[in-house]
Amino acid sequence: MNFSMLVIKTINELRSELNRIDDSYDVGLVPTMGALHQGHMSLLEKALSENKKVVVSIFVNPTQFNNTEDLEKYPKTLENDVNLISTISNEIIVFAPSVTEIYKNHVKTKIYDFAGLDKVMEGEFRDNHFNGVGTIVEALFNLVKPNRAYFGEKDFQQLRIIQKLVEIQKIPVEVIGCEIVRENLGLAMSSRNERLSTTIRQNAAFIYETLKTAKHKFGMESVLNVKNWVAKQFKNNPDFKLEYFEITDVETLTPTKNKNINIKYRAFIAVYVEDVRLIDNIALN
Ligand code: PAJ
Repeated sequence: MNFSMLVIKTINELRSELNRIDDSYDVGLVPTMGALHQGHMSLLEKALSENKKVVVSIFVNPTQFNNTEDLEKYPKTLENDVNLISTISNEIIVFAPSVTEIYKNHVKTKIYDFAGLDKVMEGEFRDNHFNGVGTIVEALFNLVKPNRAYFGEKDFQQLRIIQKLVEIQKIPVEVIGCEIVRENLGLAMSSRNERLSTTIRQNAAFIYETLKTAKHKFGMESVLNVKNWVAKQFKNNPDFKLEYFEITDVETLTPTKNKNINIKYRAFIAVYVEDVRLIDNIALN
């Protein structure tokens, strides 16, 4: 453990540390569940470049998991995480509370009206997942009161949900989306990539390649043709099982059938490979 880093475990300690920050300083918050990699680090770098003080939270949030096995299996690597953070700055406040510290003895999920953003794609089969994300992120916003908060476009649907959360709960924070960081061959970085065999991890570049070609085709062909073409690529590549491929309006996240030149679209994909579920997305226009 790098002892020059400040790792805070309790809300009281966090409050007293935040109270010591000069009022004129902007505070940036980067919420994470730990097992940090270069994707997370890019959020931290951006936060450091735009704020005088940065807080990173490391908390595996139980209310956003639908099954206990998934929750229990989630990697916990606090010592490595703190070491990695210290390679970019020793001034970052690391907030790594326990579940009891955050939820007391009552793990409860708040229910929000996200205007349907939570009902599609990642929300469709994961009942309450985004209510759980909203619950923890709202709690962190209330504790830290950041000027800015940083979220990756890797989880674009989550980013849109947080923007909606801030709007409906009237929270004075600027939500900043950060570009997807990829491995050399193009696979979007994720702690889950560690669970892939070396060969499959290389072959998984196929997912991003498919998204890039879909983007190219979207410029010329109908939505249906693009979707059919993507489905065919996966039929020809049985190691990779397609869960969904959707083209949606970036504002509402509703799947679209017809293109409208005034609307911005994004393509979203979820794939199973070697029992690992991977997600990715790409801006189309
Ligand atoms: P976690 O999966 O740890 O991700 C933390 C942040 O890192 C998220 O905003 C995510 O989008 C971003 N991120 C992950 N991989 C990335 C990549 N390859 N490129 C860019 N950004 C990337 O997302 C969560 O935790 C949780 O749901 C949380 C918001 C912390 C609430 O519990």
